[in-house]
Amino acid sequence: MKRFFFCILAMLSITCTCIAQDDAASLERVISSRRSIRRYTGQTVSRDVLDRIVSNGLKAPSGMNRQSYELRIVDDPKLLEEISRSVNPDVKSIFAGAPAAIFIANGTSYDLSQVDCGLLAQNIMLSARSLGLGSCCMGAPVRQMKSSEACAGYMEKLGFSKGYDLLIVIALGYPDEKPAARPRKDKMVRYVDR
Ligand SMILES: Cc1cc2nc3c(=O)[nH]c(=O)nc-3n(C[C@H](O)[C@H](O)[C@H](O)COP(=O)(O)O)c2cc1C
Repeated sequence: MKRFFFCILAMLSITCTCIAQDDAASLERVISSRRSIRRYTGQTVSRDVLDRIVSNGLKAPSGMNRQSYELRIVDDPKLLEEISRSVNPDVKSIFAGAPAAIFIANGTSYDLSQVDCGLLAQNIMLSARSLGLGSCCMGAPVRQMKSSEACAGYMEKLGFSKGYDLLIVIALGYPDEKPAARPRKDKMVRYVDR
């Protein structure tokens, strides 16, 4: 009997180790294959998919669990086009032609709220990647939207609460390009010994 339980325990432990290794490999695949995507197919993103991505985003840690952000999802490519045109009529899309965009505002009363937003944004982008979508975290369109008088109406339409400031937008859609990995700097990391 003892031997039987030992065998079961050993099998369970092997299974758990294999699952952990599978998890690590899948996560590394998703992290390593994520790229900033700036060309998208015309395929729209369903709300089921967007809900799933955002729900994964919201599982990110946040300072004191304040979750000091607000999100607005625009999944109407025509509305994105209008916003873009109001900011700059000369470019096709300030959102890189993405069919959907998630606007993230940080709560200004919390000094680490931008960190909360960054973690949320990364979860969103990794989740998008895992579901076959491409994404691009974009700061330039936010700067443009905030400084454009013509965009004021659209900023109002986003309707962030008082005390929340639009920080970043994540463009999302099905990728129509496969960019190579951008290089990363070295010498930024070192161990500190006693
Ligand atoms: C805070 C932030 C702002 C960014 N703003 C823009 C932007 O306005 N336009 C753009 O095309 N890419 C933008 N990017 C994407 C970066 O250019 C991209 O992450 C970087 O070049 C590394 O490439 P990779 O994401 O494919 O690894 C931004 C990324 C971050 C994190």
